[in-house]
Amino acid sequence: MTEQKLKELLQDMTLEEKVNQMLQVAGGFFTGDMMAMGPMAEKGFTEENVSKAGSALGALGAEKLKKIQKEFMEKHPHKVPLLFMLDVINGLKTVFPVPLGQGATFEPELSERCAQVAAKEAAVSGLHVTFSPMVDLVRDARWGRVMESTGEDPYLNSLFSAAMVRGYQGEDLREPYHVAACVKHFAGYGAPTAGRDYNTVELSRHTFKEFYLPAYQAGIDAGAALVMTSFNTVDGVPATGNRWLMRDVLRGEMGFDGVLISDWAAIEEIIYHGYCADRKEAAVRAVQAGVDIDMMTGIYSENLCNLVRDGKVSEALVDEAVYRILELKNKLGLFENPYKDADEEKEKEVILCSAHRELAREAARKSFVLLKNDGALPLVKGKKVAYLGPYVENRNMMGSWSIVGEAKDVTTLKEAVMEREEGKDAVFGPGCTLLGGEMKLEGFTETMEEEPSAQECQVMLEEAVELAKGADMVVLALGEHRLQSGEATSNATIQIPKVQMELLRKVCAVNGNVAVVLFSGRPLDIREISEKAQAVLQVWMPGTEGARAIMDVLSGDYNPSGKLPMSFPYCVGQVPVHYNEYSTGRPHVEGKDKDRFRSKYLDIPNEPLYPFGYGKSYTRFAISPVEMDKERMKKGETLQASVNVKNVGDVAGTETLQMYIRDIAASVVRPVKELKGFRKVTLEPGQEEKVCFEIGDRQLRFLTENDRWESEPGEFEVFVGADSSTVNGAKFWLE
Ligand code: BGC
Repeated sequence: MTEQKLKELLQDMTLEEKVNQMLQVAGGFFTGDMMAMGPMAEKGFTEENVSKAGSALGALGAEKLKKIQKEFMEKHPHKVPLLFMLDVINGLKTVFPVPLGQGATFEPELSERCAQVAAKEAAVSGLHVTFSPMVDLVRDARWGRVMESTGEDPYLNSLFSAAMVRGYQGEDLREPYHVAACVKHFAGYGAPTAGRDYNTVELSRHTFKEFYLPAYQAGIDAGAALVMTSFNTVDGVPATGNRWLMRDVLRGEMGFDGVLISDWAAIEEIIYHGYCADRKEAAVRAVQAGVDIDMMTGIYSENLCNLVRDGKVSEALVDEAVYRILELKNKLGLFENPYKDADEEKEKEVILCSAHRELAREAARKSFVLLKNDGALPLVKGKKVAYLGPYVENRNMMGSWSIVGEAKDVTTLKEAVMEREEGKDAVFGPGCTLLGGEMKLEGFTETMEEEPSAQECQVMLEEAVELAKGADMVVLALGEHRLQSGEATSNATIQIPKVQMELLRKVCAVNGNVAVVLFSGRPLDIREISEKAQAVLQVWMPGTEGARAIMDVLSGDYNPSGKLPMSFPYCVGQVPVHYNEYSTGRPHVEGKDKDRFRSKYLDIPNEPLYPFGYGKSYTRFAISPVEMDKERMKKGETLQASVNVKNVGDVAGTETLQMYIRDIAASVVRPVKELKGFRKVTLEPGQEEKVCFEIGDRQLRFLTENDRWESEPGEFEVFVGADSSTVNGAKFWLE
């Protein structure tokens, strides 16, 4: 539809029709999955609202969505199609590693391909919009949603944010197999106080703008069609009613001109924040802030028409929002083809096809991080291996956002072993359940497995110990239950359930060759695991092909290459811990200064157990000292920092060279190190390569005291190494 026609359409719509465009209702309202007047009325929607709503959340399937769309449009006075939206986070039916795992690949192009596949499966199933990527910067492992982010670094997150948006959207939303992306949660949702979900966010404006906003900006610059508001307050004002944040920052400074959707019921929640006295006021605040779509409340539908008639809200505000929604429908080509890519035949053909599964396997194996290896891995052929632990036969390793992915499509670790040569000498046993009796996941709608009796648990444990005794080595598959991370899963104890720790202790007491395969959606306190086991492979929630990918790595067919996108704290008392912290006036150098009055803990080190960027390989790499092509440069010039990296081990492998920069003195304090570039290099044994990083204004600029992104002259240090703790550095000066 031409712009002119779109404008005419808007003009022709009644106020009621326009306001209804701003509603997002449950897909179930159209299919009878939910009682029409029951929950619908509770939310404040009338049948009239639903029959003219702008978008639906949660319905899926080509046949179903085509039927809904057809019937909907037949009744709609202007034949404006519905938008179908859903959270397709790490894949639809083919499930990829959770985003935090994807961050560990340090390969945004891979996530772009995963997003492309997710978009394809979503599009043929009739969807138009996915609520992804989630690009919130995360520093606190207590917060369960760290799983949905690619980690603690603004630069890395920005690359992933842009890559995922490109993957979902392609060049043009009208093209087949693409869906619109929604960058979320704007803004600062990743910093809830004390790691408790939905809690207040307290950030200085400087930190907020410099570290938290860039990944949203990258997604917007890549063309994200939507942005979602966040639940938290920003500067004391709930984001969803925050005019400064949405109008001045998001639309003004960041240049976003797409659709702004509230998070689930977030417009209503600004009342509970204590920002608005009632639903009417909440509607005014949200529409003034520029929130175009009200997700799942009746606040807009109940109030906006009257507010316009009473002169409390200008109709121009409604028009502006509705025009953006119509524009999005138009960009997706829905006026010409309201079903877009919905296609039952294609659903059968592409969903979970072998190419998609293969990509899921590639992404999973590249996301695994080898945290420790005292020679236990890779497995030695011909040795008897006992595969123990609750993840050996657990089919669900997809992460809590995999609402469409089905466990039946996932291969278990036992099956993955049995389909390989390794299956010949393998024995298996669960040892315990995932949670043990004492931990309950209350309020989760999913039916949880029944806990066996105490006696059955004892038998399980004893059997596992016997198997461990009789084996040359043990692969112990442990970790969080997949529902222990994700939304509303804050944890004050970031450890695996006690019952599994007990299993670990018992197994390690009888077998000195234990490799732990650790499943989790967040960094955990793994001091004891790390001490007791000979090897630890962090596998996150690896998705549909996770088990086969684990066997690729355990067997040595694939040499692990993942790097931590988020620090693994020493213990929970250290969080939020992140490598790119500021120095203090009393910096503490571990082991060096004995002064009492330094910035440190008495009982634990300042350093995390495993730092950002860390990850081992089955081979070793030697990295030469950093060489500079020159030590001084003027503004506008560039210089080069380079190292030679050599594979000095016995097998081929991939190293991720990371370049960090420190600005020694500046108008606002700078982090002790900031990632500014990285390069993945694959080398055969004995092979060597020179890796050069170019440094120019882009790597040196920051948000200065003038609130502008610019570089300042002075001394800098550049580091190139295999993780963020590297001290392999050189100096240079910007004149
Ligand atoms: C979450 C969002 C999600 C939305 C819709 C909310 O509870 O915070 O991330 O996109 O639900 O499912």
